[in-house]
Amino acid sequence: MKKSNKTFVEKIKSEDYSFYYNGKPALKNINISFPDKMVTSIVGPSGCGKTTLLRSINRLNDLIPKTTFSGDIFLDGISIFDKGVSTVLLRRKVGMIFQKSNPFPKSIFDNIAFGIKVNNITNDKHRIEFEVEQALKISGLWSEVKDNLSAPAMGLSGGQQQRLCLARALAVKPEILLLDEPAGALDPASTSKIEELIHTIKKTITIVIVTHNLQQAARLSDYTAFILNGELVEFDKTTKIFTNPSVKQTEDYVTGRFG
Ligand SMILES: Nc1ncnc2c1ncn2[C@@H]1O[C@H](COP(=O)(O)OP(=O)(O)OP(=O)(O)O)[C@@H](O)[C@H]1O
Ligand SMILES: [Mg+2]
Repeated sequence: MKKSNKTFVEKIKSEDYSFYYNGKPALKNINISFPDKMVTSIVGPSGCGKTTLLRSINRLNDLIPKTTFSGDIFLDGISIFDKGVSTVLLRRKVGMIFQKSNPFPKSIFDNIAFGIKVNNITNDKHRIEFEVEQALKISGLWSEVKDNLSAPAMGLSGGQQQRLCLARALAVKPEILLLDEPAGALDPASTSKIEELIHTIKKTITIVIVTHNLQQAARLSDYTAFILNGELVEFDKTTKIFTNPSVKQTEDYVTGRFG
């Protein structure tokens, strides 16, 4: 793996991290650092391990039976696998958005208020209303839903549901946001809205985004990681990866020769 000299603060760092489903490796000796308050894209062909890597960072993989790992992952220098680490607190710090939006079968308001209450951020009614409004404003949904906050979230369009999920994730003030093809199922207009949202929040939060859309990776991210067959092939500034990659396989991938 070729890697440039680091010039950033490491928010998340993996050391020789490998992950196995039923003994079969999906990630092999991954050494990567995700920069604080920047956007990093993870790209690579289907099945290369992108989702597995994302789900390792907030320990969602813990929930899958017959999986094992070796190596380590650090958040602010502390292993996420330390005995003292609570997965509940970890997942509050590390929010995640999936390709398929998953609002709760509740009202628009309650979708966001729920996380605020569950995470004991506040129980004050006015403060909750304020936080819900802020989250909806950041996600660009406020003007579309402000007169209908008690309507069911399931009645929103696909793009609106995804922005609601982003609002819900942001309402608990995570330090890191993991996005797994967040616009993969959306039309171009909804995709632009998601990208605008990422632009709005990128200076305040560490974002790791998996995308199959290489233009999107180039537009959105400061750094890009290219993964192939469970191995990190190259990690560098996005401009370098897309204009002058160091590894032939990266070049073949970003120029569309495979994948
Ligand atoms: N729950 C699971 N059980 C067994 N094997 C799995 C499971 N999830 C993923 N895998 C395997 O692990 C490898 C990596 O899968 P992963 O979902 O991380 O890939 P990906 O890069 O996200 O692919 P895609 O772009 O299609 O989403 C694949 O070989 C996949 O078949
Ligand atoms: Mg995936």
